[in-house]
Amino acid sequence: MGMDWYNAIALRNGGYKSNAMFTIEGVSAEEIFEQELIKMLPNYQSVLDAGCGHGDFTMKMSQHSKSLIGFDNSIEMITIANKSLLETEISNVRFIEATTKSELPFADAQFDLIYDRRGPTSILNHSRILTSGGTVYGIHSGALNLVKERLINNHFENIQIREFNRAKYCFPNDAEFTKFLSGIPGNPDYSLPEYKEELDKKIEQHKINGKIELIEYKYIWKATKP
Ligand SMILES: C[S@@+](CC[C@H](N)C(=O)[O-])C[C@H]1O[C@@H](n2cnc3c(N)ncnc32)[C@H](O)[C@@H]1O
Repeated sequence: MGMDWYNAIALRNGGYKSNAMFTIEGVSAEEIFEQELIKMLPNYQSVLDAGCGHGDFTMKMSQHSKSLIGFDNSIEMITIANKSLLETEISNVRFIEATTKSELPFADAQFDLIYDRRGPTSILNHSRILTSGGTVYGIHSGALNLVKERLINNHFENIQIREFNRAKYCFPNDAEFTKFLSGIPGNPDYSLPEYKEELDKKIEQHKINGKIELIEYKYIWKATKP
């Protein structure tokens, strides 16, 4: 997804936040990812958060980590992350503006865990910065085949991929669903009048017995560098 879209959403919503209200029926893959990551973090010395956005999740994970760096190619996201960090007592986190589209500003084997929470899966092309025996761990909703390809082409081992499609997002009304849709990377601001027709179609597609519902599809991958 383009950097401009993320810069715009950071300015509009104060970060990668949709501010939409909804309830989740069933266990979300996001929750599984977070709980597993919390268990993993204390076992690693130096951790990288690829595509950290506005940094809230990185700072949340810092309490379980020894040392954590978050990077993102959106300057607006990194600006918000650094500002939030200054308002805390957290001392084991750094935020850096960087892109996976070019060489990353990290040393060979600098990290023993790289996690990716819906960030750029092209981080898998940077195994140089991961130590031998180190772990990549990520969650995403699209481009599963590309992730598989990247894991294989970059010679990762012990590849595990789990798909999840059981949790359901339930929206209380059209306005909250509109906010949610507008926060999906690449989507326009559906609250604008020019998108009304398109929005109405989407609402209709997701209405079941008068309620707006969406099935979550996510996959979690994990692999090690030989
Ligand atoms: C869906 S958001 C997720 C943000 C954060 N990980 C979270 O869970 O809240 C994806 C983030 O990846 C960043 N991103 C996308 N492509 C990138 C790239 N090639 N290099 C660095 N960051 C990238 C975006 O700017 C955005 O902040």
